[in-house]
Amino acid sequence: MTSQPGGIRIENLRKVYGHGDTAVEALKNVNMQVAPGEVVGLVGPSGSGKSTLLKCLGAIIEPTSGRMTLGDEVIYDNGWKIPDLRTLRRDRIGFVFQAPYLIPFLDVTDNVALLPMLAGVPNAQARQRALELLTSLDVAHRAKAEPAQLSGGEQQRVSIARALANRPPVILADEPTAPLDSERALAVVKILNDMALKAQTAIIVVTHDEKIIPTFQRVYHIRDGQTVEEKGEGRSLGR
Ligand SMILES: Nc1ncnc2c1ncn2[C@@H]1O[C@H](COP(=O)(O)OP(=O)(O)O)[C@@H](O)[C@H]1O
Ligand SMILES: [Mg+2]
Repeated sequence: MTSQPGGIRIENLRKVYGHGDTAVEALKNVNMQVAPGEVVGLVGPSGSGKSTLLKCLGAIIEPTSGRMTLGDEVIYDNGWKIPDLRTLRRDRIGFVFQAPYLIPFLDVTDNVALLPMLAGVPNAQARQRALELLTSLDVAHRAKAEPAQLSGGEQQRVSIARALANRPPVILADEPTAPLDSERALAVVKILNDMALKAQTAIIVVTHDEKIIPTFQRVYHIRDGQTVEEKGEGRSLGR
């Protein structure tokens, strides 16, 4: 594997749940590399290890062995290499889920500004950054609205703005287009591509969505806990 600085690198990652007779080897040998500014797909049948992989990379569960590098820092090498996993999750990894999970009693701006505020950015500056992101995602006209007043597509764009708010080098998206129709799903992928390039973010999109799989330049297939890389067509997005 070439050593390219930045982005995400996963080498020989293994994850075993449980012990002895009931042990499940969810990840056997996973290898991935995503450069800054790149969006890759991760596809595989149910039970193949997609969620386990995202949880390891998101520092939500601990792998059993292997190595993970984020930016230029080795975060895991047969054990966590950084002391503060909560700060890592908050500041360096953005999550986008199938459901937007916006906070209902905060307006759109504060939903996006909350994470930077928690990271210590002064409120006015956090809201300014939130507005800039909402503008680039074409939802600034909804800045003062409550999440319930937004359409599904608008809510998902707000959740992408939130994932970008702390300028993480990595975004992990788990089925981000599942509830959206074709046109909106493709619009969300286009946004992820644009934002990846603009902010030099490395993005992994877990998906079953046949509408968007052909748009990725590279797709990792995962089966029985092992990854195989395939060059995609990268069509429909003009890249
Ligand atoms: N907390 C857990 N304890 C034991 N086995 C688990 C746990 N989570 C997932 N698994 C098992 O690990 C394998 C991979 O699961 P998962 O990562 O959820 O796959 P996917 O997201 O691709 O459907 C499956 O065999 C699943 O049953
Ligand atoms: Mg899953």
